[in-house]
Amino acid sequence: MRQILPLFFCLGLILSTLLSLGQRVIPILTKNNALVLEVSRDSTVTTAYLGIKLSNVDEYAKINSFYRQAKDYSGVLAAAYSSSGSRNLTEPAISVTHEDGNNSLDLKYVSSSTQRIDGNISLVSVLLKDPVYDFQVELFYRVYFEEDVIEQWCIIQHNEKGNVILHKYASTNLYLKGDKFYLRQYHGDKMREMQPEENILTHGIKTLDSKLGTRADLFMPSAFMVSLDRPSAEDEGNVLLGALEYSGNFRIDFEVDHQDNLRILAGINNYASDYQLKPEEKFETPPLVYTFSDMGKGEASRRMHRWARNYKLLDGKGSRPTLLNNWESTYFDFNEPKLGELVADTKKLGVDLFLLDDGWFGNKYPRNGDSTGLGDWQENKQKLPHGIGWLVQQAKDQQVKSGIWIEPEMVSPKSELYEQHPDWVVKQPLRQEYYYRNQLVLDMSNPQVQDFVFKVIDELFTKYPGLAFIKWDCNSIIYNAYSVYLKDRQSHFYIEYYRGLYNVLDKIRKKYPTIPMMLCSGGGGRVDYAALQYFTEYWPSDNTDPLERIFIQWDYSYFYPAIASSNHVTGWGKQSLKFRTDVAMMGKLGFDLIVNKLSKKDLEFCQEAINNFNALKPIILQGDQYRLSDPRENAVASVMYLDSSHQSGVIFNYLVNNRYGQGSKLPIKLKGLDTTQYYSITEINLYSGIASTLPKNQRLSGDFLMKVGFNSDIRADRPSVVLRIEQVQ
Ligand code: GLA
Repeated sequence: MRQILPLFFCLGLILSTLLSLGQRVIPILTKNNALVLEVSRDSTVTTAYLGIKLSNVDEYAKINSFYRQAKDYSGVLAAAYSSSGSRNLTEPAISVTHEDGNNSLDLKYVSSSTQRIDGNISLVSVLLKDPVYDFQVELFYRVYFEEDVIEQWCIIQHNEKGNVILHKYASTNLYLKGDKFYLRQYHGDKMREMQPEENILTHGIKTLDSKLGTRADLFMPSAFMVSLDRPSAEDEGNVLLGALEYSGNFRIDFEVDHQDNLRILAGINNYASDYQLKPEEKFETPPLVYTFSDMGKGEASRRMHRWARNYKLLDGKGSRPTLLNNWESTYFDFNEPKLGELVADTKKLGVDLFLLDDGWFGNKYPRNGDSTGLGDWQENKQKLPHGIGWLVQQAKDQQVKSGIWIEPEMVSPKSELYEQHPDWVVKQPLRQEYYYRNQLVLDMSNPQVQDFVFKVIDELFTKYPGLAFIKWDCNSIIYNAYSVYLKDRQSHFYIEYYRGLYNVLDKIRKKYPTIPMMLCSGGGGRVDYAALQYFTEYWPSDNTDPLERIFIQWDYSYFYPAIASSNHVTGWGKQSLKFRTDVAMMGKLGFDLIVNKLSKKDLEFCQEAINNFNALKPIILQGDQYRLSDPRENAVASVMYLDSSHQSGVIFNYLVNNRYGQGSKLPIKLKGLDTTQYYSITEINLYSGIASTLPKNQRLSGDFLMKVGFNSDIRADRPSVVLRIEQVQ
């Protein structure tokens, strides 16, 4: 009789049911979903099921008997972690060369366990070993029950006589069954991040990857969605939403096998990265975070948001300061008098903080443009003769806070740092340097460089304890990857770079746990949940044209909550100040404008909008986000945020098509309301002197609003409308 593995998260009831069934299954359960692993007679661990939880747990074991698919000749197609060189001939999760030169690996079940971390989180682990070689992989599943989220990764280890070469080392090997699979993936470049494409996956392998080293998401992030049976819909259908928690090179293979099932292998990109694993060394892969929903990508995204705020994003449950940034208004051209005015403007505008952007440093090679000075983090004596301390004091005098921009992983070819430490720079020793944005990358695999980067930040905070914000940029990708420090271990470079960076960020956060930091990478070139453990927010794009931002923010929002999205009102775009501000309010509001050039009315509008935003923070930053009308499908984009009790909310509506007569012809259906309750709807964020065309405090039932909808009267002369909705008696 097959034996049982007492391995799951919650209910003792489930355990007893399975015991009575005598099945060797490992159910990994969240509130609504189940990932069920099975151990076969020959000890192969396979995925028996991934989808919506069944009511009768004893029925998981019956699932596969209802499939009449092609034969699985190898018996390992559904392996929970597939190896290479033995029976598996599909894309492997892991591929190795043993110490004796042999390339085969076979992984068999040894043991498994579940550790209850707290009332919501459990950690399931499954140990697999090769019966021939002393080599093991332990699979880990951190289960967030309420959020329906799983983080999955593994630790690879061996005890062979010498090093084993890891050629591939994925974090996950998911396995899904469905009639068809649709992949929603993203591509882009600077200024046009998160452009979606959705296509059916055909047989064979589709790979999403990055080989850029730093700014790894420039052309493509690791975030993806797979919809089963039909293209993804906002509120219906089975969707798996995932993202690799890693800031470096990633690789995600989607393989539709000959049985028509989908294998998803996600992990660090093995490109140019064979890893020499020493005996007993632990190689830990970064987690893939994923959630599954049978209520479309909308619900999947809300689950991801809750998980991110509760567990991942730094200070995810906290608030966020509003700010005034000087990048668009001054670029590199500023001095103390100008900065003094900007600090005073910060106060006048009514935001919390002044953020001084690029250009404040470098003396031998002053940072007056983007080709000099990176690495020389001393205040430029011309622009800031009295130093950052002066700025901090100015802000203090105005009762606002201050922060600065820094790009500590980078170096300009024209810098004192490069002159002093050429061996700290990533470049091929015998080849001509090649630049991205006129700069090079520091070798974060080198502990001396790590110390330098930590010291730069540490000294800023120790010297200027009033400094309250950091914008951490990363503008360059890595060309000519080579580390002087790593000598003959060049194939470890991409991995060691991130070990080094995370090491520094760990140290920074140990010493400065709460100071808000913005994750920027020339826009959204580095947005992932590994980095967001250290950062409170990310900069989605340097493209701040509000029309573009509606689209960019829309697609980021499937993966990252509004609290993490830094949205600034700038001079970009042809739209009104109101339109620009309304768009920036769908996240963490900031400004990058010349405040003293605003008309009296414009200034008043901004001040009022900031007041509104401050009042709406609990709803926008912590609430549930519902996408009501997709800008890619309609002339009007509409997004709604409801507070956690769903009694109070805000709805943003924008015209995204300027053709003749376009607007909200039809009412837009609201979501997440209680059909038995009544709600009042009022337009807010009105520009001074312009009255709303909507009656104040319209009282309508949740039933009506969700079945018929509401018309915000969007049209060419009312292209942006913000509505406040409140439950009433
Ligand atoms: C990058 C950032 C911008 C700005 C500039 C400064 O492009 O994305 O926001 O900080 O660098 O050089």
